[in-house]
Amino acid sequence: MIGVVGKGRMADVGGGISIRPFRPTDLGEVYEIERASFPSPWPKFYFRLLHLKNPDGFLVAEVDGRIVGYIVVDIEHRIELQNLKLKRYGHILNLAVHRDFRRRGVATALIRRAFKHLRDVGAEGVWLEVRESNLPARRLYSKLGFKVTGRITRYYLNEDAIVMERRL
Ligand SMILES: CC(C)(COP(=O)(O)OP(=O)(O)OC[C@H]1O[C@@H](n2cnc3c(N)ncnc32)[C@H](O)[C@@H]1OP(=O)(O)O)[C@@H](O)C(=O)NCCC(=O)NCCS
Repeated sequence: MIGVVGKGRMADVGGGISIRPFRPTDLGEVYEIERASFPSPWPKFYFRLLHLKNPDGFLVAEVDGRIVGYIVVDIEHRIELQNLKLKRYGHILNLAVHRDFRRRGVATALIRRAFKHLRDVGAEGVWLEVRESNLPARRLYSKLGFKVTGRITRYYLNEDAIVMERRL
């Protein structure tokens, strides 16, 4: 189970994995994992920008003082047309784990801690886009209760995105 921690403090989530908020000095290590994980990596300024926008939504996983994964979530608003109410939703924008540390529950721990942040700010649900061919990620999200709710044609230019969502 992920412990409840204050800003900037670490929680040991078992197996020596700790989850804590991103710090600007982590960017080099995060970017190395990003480059090794995606065919079209985000530029560094995207990470800086999203950290400025929602600092509590950018989390890193550490093992023995080394960064082994990260997640970036943002808060979005949707208007309910029936009653014109504004509802908050989390959007998982990025998630990656260092190749040598996969299948040890790092992504699961990052996502669960991100859920806590999203619940704390009153989000009612969380959604994401994932490459149709990315079966490891789709399995991970299914295991965590996400259901397929849509598809965005050519979202990745050469491939469709599957949209997945769950309530919090
Ligand atoms: C997808 C990714 C984040 C998973 O990270 P991880 O830390 O290895 O995931 P976890 O260990 O928490 O896995 C939890 C569950 O997800 C599923 N899963 C994860 N990787 C899998 C794989 N390669 N094959 C099949 N199922 C997989 C399994 O059900 C797994 O549970 P199990 O190990 O008990 O069988 C990681 O593979 C990665 O960084 N991939 C490249 C970047 C990427 O695709 N990011 C997601 C973009 S939407």
